[in-house]
Amino acid sequence: MTVAEVKAGLEFKPGLEGVPVTLSSISYVDGKKGILEYRGIPIEDLAAKSTFLETAYLLIWGQLPTTEELTAFEHEIRYHRRIKYRIRDMMKCFPESGHPMDALQASAAALGLFYSRRALDDPAYIRAAAVRLLAKIPTMVAAFQLMRKGNDPVQPRDDLDYSANFLYMLTEQVPDPLAARVFDICLTLHAEHTLNASTFSARVTASTLTDPYAVVASAVGTLAGPLHGGANEEVLEMIEQIGSVENVRGYIDDCIARKSKIMGFGHRVYKVKDPRAIILQNLAEELFAKFGRDDYYDIAVELEKVVEEKLSHKGIYANVDFYSGLVYRKLGIPSDLFTPIFAISRVAGWLAHWKEQLAENRIYRPTQIYTGNRNAVYIPKEERESPTDFADVN
Ligand code: CMC
Repeated sequence: MTVAEVKAGLEFKPGLEGVPVTLSSISYVDGKKGILEYRGIPIEDLAAKSTFLETAYLLIWGQLPTTEELTAFEHEIRYHRRIKYRIRDMMKCFPESGHPMDALQASAAALGLFYSRRALDDPAYIRAAAVRLLAKIPTMVAAFQLMRKGNDPVQPRDDLDYSANFLYMLTEQVPDPLAARVFDICLTLHAEHTLNASTFSARVTASTLTDPYAVVASAVGTLAGPLHGGANEEVLEMIEQIGSVENVRGYIDDCIARKSKIMGFGHRVYKVKDPRAIILQNLAEELFAKFGRDDYYDIAVELEKVVEEKLSHKGIYANVDFYSGLVYRKLGIPSDLFTPIFAISRVAGWLAHWKEQLAENRIYRPTQIYTGNRNAVYIPKEERESPTDFADVN
């Protein structure tokens, strides 16, 4: 398609902003009213009454499980938590300086080598793949964390729930029940959020009818970019840079004067406070009350107060990432694991979209607007000039 053809009809929307590309019944967002629902159930109810695993079941299979269904599902997840020793050995060869998101993407893709049967029209296959991914991804994240420190990975513990087991595998200590509950709610809050970049990537990959491990690996790669999964890490860097409560006002004034973005604030969809941030703020307060306030928390409280005072007229409020970084840090989690933890949670949403895509599949094949040459002359090698922007690769 050429520019002239576009002028004659189609509209070009960079980044597909606002362009509907699928029908979906998985989640609903109303950015003006601050509403987020999974399968129609408000996020507040799920955070208060459900668990991450029950929510994952709801997202993937479309309804809340009965007691028997949930027990069976939890049992299957426990059974599949361990990873094959060959995957562990492969991960041991990863450089310890590598980013945990790259390690996760490679290990998720490697699962496809071991579970290569592809029976996308068999509900038992769909279920087994979903269970394996939900069960093994936390184990792989924790294993890489220990191995890059030179330690052996810790085996999962069958007597611990999903989130408590992950924190145990990561820290080698059974977590406090409040810490495990808060972490589990964080997973619930991040599990799904309509058609963001990684979910779109999952759907595009799914539409080729490849295996679910490739679907998740491609979504992990997309989530890894700083414009998507990395904001909570940057919130902590910002707080560190600010250094003290007294510096907050000056820092904000400076950002506003320089028109630079304050990390953890603002949202493309929410023009009121992100409903997930409201839930996380309350949990963070509970957590810090039990385990002790620190400078980070005090700076964060002041930050939110000053940003609201100065920017709420533009619809800029704290988003989910503002609090999740603070919570994870308080739980002793290193900041480069924040995005892998986002992936542990979002795999539930990706799998729900994978299943939905398969149910009504049409391969994604958008179009482009061609802006290059036509009928260009082939220049012989000896007559060519070197391109000026050809930098050395190091
Ligand atoms: N700090 C200061 N000003 C801001 C901010 C911010 N964080 N966000 C938006 N603005 C201002 C922006 O400068 C612009 O002002 P003006 O109209 O005077 O030029 C106005 O608000 C609209 O900004 P925009 O960039 O058009 O808004 P957007 O919808 O494109 O951006 C955003 C959304 C999330 C990319 C942006 O708010 C941002 O970069 N925030 C910081 C990074 C961050 O916290 N990201 C995590 C988002 S939540 C993740 C999730 O839901 O998964």
